[in-house]
Amino acid sequence: MVDALPLFPLMLSLLFLYLSIANGVHCYEEKKVLSLQSFQWKQQNGTPSCISRKSRRENGATILEMKHRDYCSGKIIDWSEKQQKRLILDNSHVKLLQSRIRNKAASGGVEDVSKAQIPLTSGIELETLNYIVTIGLGGRNMTVIVDTGSDLTWVQCQPCNSCYNQKEPLFNPSASSSYQSILCNSPACRSIQSASWNSPLCGSNQPSSCNYVVNYGDGSYTKGELARDHLNLGATPVNDFLFGCGRNNKGLFGGASGLMGLGRSDVSVISQSSALFGGVFSYCLPSTEAGASGSLVMGGDSSVFKNSTPISYTRMVQNPQLSNFYFLNLTGISIGGVAVQAPSLAHGRILIDSGTVISRLAPSVYQAVKAEFLKQMSGLPPAPGFSILDTCFNLSGYSEVNIPTLKLHFEGNAELNVDVTGILYVVKSDASQVCFAVASLSYEDEVGIVGNYQQKNQRVVYDIKQSELGFAGETCSFI
Ligand SMILES: *[C@@H]1O[C@H](CO)[C@@H](O)[C@H](O)[C@H]1NC(C)=O
Ligand SMILES: *[C@@H]1O[C@H](CO)[C@@H](O)[C@H](O)[C@H]1NC(C)=O
Ligand SMILES: *[C@@H]1O[C@H](CO)[C@@H](O)[C@H](O)[C@H]1NC(C)=O
Repeated sequence: MVDALPLFPLMLSLLFLYLSIANGVHCYEEKKVLSLQSFQWKQQNGTPSCISRKSRRENGATILEMKHRDYCSGKIIDWSEKQQKRLILDNSHVKLLQSRIRNKAASGGVEDVSKAQIPLTSGIELETLNYIVTIGLGGRNMTVIVDTGSDLTWVQCQPCNSCYNQKEPLFNPSASSSYQSILCNSPACRSIQSASWNSPLCGSNQPSSCNYVVNYGDGSYTKGELARDHLNLGATPVNDFLFGCGRNNKGLFGGASGLMGLGRSDVSVISQSSALFGGVFSYCLPSTEAGASGSLVMGGDSSVFKNSTPISYTRMVQNPQLSNFYFLNLTGISIGGVAVQAPSLAHGRILIDSGTVISRLAPSVYQAVKAEFLKQMSGLPPAPGFSILDTCFNLSGYSEVNIPTLKLHFEGNAELNVDVTGILYVVKSDASQVCFAVASLSYEDEVGIVGNYQQKNQRVVYDIKQSELGFAGETCSFI
């Protein structure tokens, strides 16, 4: 069988300073070169494997190969339909996040699931959580979706009442001699309750196992029993790892065997392994369409990173009601080196999320950013908007264009210098519709989001103990 994967033309070139003369005033605008060679459909032999078992250990850090889930979905027939679908899902994901944040903040931290539900096709949120890694659990390899927006790690488990299709065999507790079921009266079971999810359900038989439910708010859920077993992250064992053995799971998990929660609470992988890795993990999200691999690194030894710029750190903003989300203090945005002026930029708080694709800004901030971007892109032919993206160009007559840089500035002089592959979103493969890859929120008081499209080819370091987050440029690769 021959599968096709699109080969993206976005080739990174050097950053240079561009002299422009506007209104007789000389000013330097920073530009990056975006190469727009014709889009190709690279024929690959065999089915691309969505399972990425590569891992290694280096200087105390464990490095897992991270891939985009499109590896699992096979042939992409219609590029622009795929891109459109991705943005529609992304918009639903953001609406859901906003409603969760509103409800959680309003209710003092306890999530009201009924309010957080948005009646949409089930699984939409999980469809956007796009990156996968392979972990070892109870002696088995399991490929799971990586999620920084939730905490409990779970896999589909035998015997299963209702499971979606996955590529690997189901996890079988009876085949693992180290599997331990968690009892209802245990502290671990109570800790789930205090982690502000649904209360655990205990059966009438004593001793009863601890039944958990995690709702992802969109109709997707996992239900099952809490358990402990040996976790292997690469070659590094994490003993007695608390996870969910899911017996009733629903959602578009896209063939993965479960989910790995990298949120901030006590049950997340990073908290449970903090004695080994010091509460630090980082990732480099590959430019998806190029089919490249990225990496998920457990542990903070920066000598294993391949960053090309120094790591700049910013403080994580604490929010007791929303303790499992990662908030940062955004202090400025610059386009082509020009600082964008918008009064509400001063409000600061922005969410960094690996599951949102396109970054979102408050309407007034977005309008200011867009105006500056358009000014610096002037002369390029416009194209109609596409879905949530309203600033588009027809670049089909160009082999390459100079586009303004996009930088997000955070408290403490930290900076996210967005990679050239993260500034424009290629809607049509002939480049006749290429859009600025940032969108506006609907309301001024919604929370801005740094999405994964703008995090590509960056080392993003989450340090839970020091409560800080770092960015550095890195061309992702596993090797
Ligand atoms: C899990 O994957 C690793 C790396 O490919 C392999 O060496 C190991 O044998 C696999 N384990 C099982 C139980 O399949
Ligand atoms: C895009 O521009 C090219 C010329 O550069 C033109 O031939 C083509 O019709 C345009 N496409 C659209 C969809 O406007
Ligand atoms: C964000 O950082 C700025 C600059 O350091 C500071 O003045 C402001 O108080 C911070 N905002 C929040 C919400 O911490």
